[in-house]
Amino acid sequence: MTETDEIIEKYRLAGRILSEVRAQTAEKVIEGESLLMVAEFTENLIREKGGKPAFPVNISRNDEAAHSTPSLNDKAVFGKDIVKLDIGVHIDGYIADTAITVDLSGNPELVKAAEAALEAAINFIHAGVNTSDIGGVIDETITSFGYKPIINLTGHGLAQYIQHAPPAIPNKRMPGGVILKEGDIIAIEPFATNGAGKIHDAGSAEIYHIVSEKPVRHPSARKLLVEIGKYKTLPFAKRWLGERIDFAMMALVRANIIRPYPILKEVQGGLISQAEHTVIITKEGCEVITR
Ligand code: CO
Repeated sequence: MTETDEIIEKYRLAGRILSEVRAQTAEKVIEGESLLMVAEFTENLIREKGGKPAFPVNISRNDEAAHSTPSLNDKAVFGKDIVKLDIGVHIDGYIADTAITVDLSGNPELVKAAEAALEAAINFIHAGVNTSDIGGVIDETITSFGYKPIINLTGHGLAQYIQHAPPAIPNKRMPGGVILKEGDIIAIEPFATNGAGKIHDAGSAEIYHIVSEKPVRHPSARKLLVEIGKYKTLPFAKRWLGERIDFAMMALVRANIIRPYPILKEVQGGLISQAEHTVIITKEGCEVITR
C-alpha cells in the first residue's frame, strides 16, 4: 500500500467505527436519560472499538446548534427535546465526523429537512463541483420543506489532527467557492431551523482547544497543559480533565494558550436539526465513509 492508501484506510476505519457508535448512541437518547451518561457511553464505545474521540461528543438540544457537551457533574436529562448528536472518531489523527438528529419533540419534518439536504448534497457532488453550488442545493432542499438553513455554520475539510480545515462547505450559495478535487475529504453538515437561520455565541463553554504552545509560569497550569497536550490540536472537554482545574484553565485561557468553543444558539430561539456525513470526493461522485 502507498502512504496515501494507508491514510485513506485510516479514514475508512474511523468512519466504520463511527457509524456503529452513532447507531448505538442514538438508541440511548430517550426522555429521562442523563446526557452525561450518554456522552461517556459514546466516548468509551469509540475507545473500545479501537478509535479515539476526535472531539467531545456534542449533545446539543433545541435551539442549540453545536458545541454543547455535558460538564463533569452534569445533572441534565433529556426531555421533549430535538437532540443533535455530533460525533467524531480519529485514527492517528485522521478524522471521520458525523451527526444525526434524534427527535423527542414531535418535529419529524424538521429532521427530514436536514437529512434530505445532506442526501441531495451527496448525490450532487463529484470532482469539479464548486462548494458554493453545494450550498445552493442544501438551501433549496431545506427551503422546500418550509424551513431555513443556518447560514453562518458550514461543513468543512478534514486534515490530520485538524477538525476544521479548508474548504468551508456552505449551507447557502456563497461567493468565493472553491472547486473540489478527487481525493478531497470533506464533512457536509446542513442545519435546518424554524427560526431566523443564524446562530450566535451563547457564552458558556465546555469544549476548548489549544491555539498556541508557549511557556506558562504557574505550576498547576503547566501540569494541566501537559495533560491537554495529549489531544494535540483537537478539541477536548473540560469534563475530561477532572476536578479542581478551574484556576489552571482560566490561566491558560488568559494566556491565550487555549480557547473555548462557546455553545452556539439560534438567534431567535428556533429549533434546529442537523445531519452530517464525511465523504471522499471521487471523479464520478463521492464515497460516504460514515454511512
Ligand atoms: Co463537522
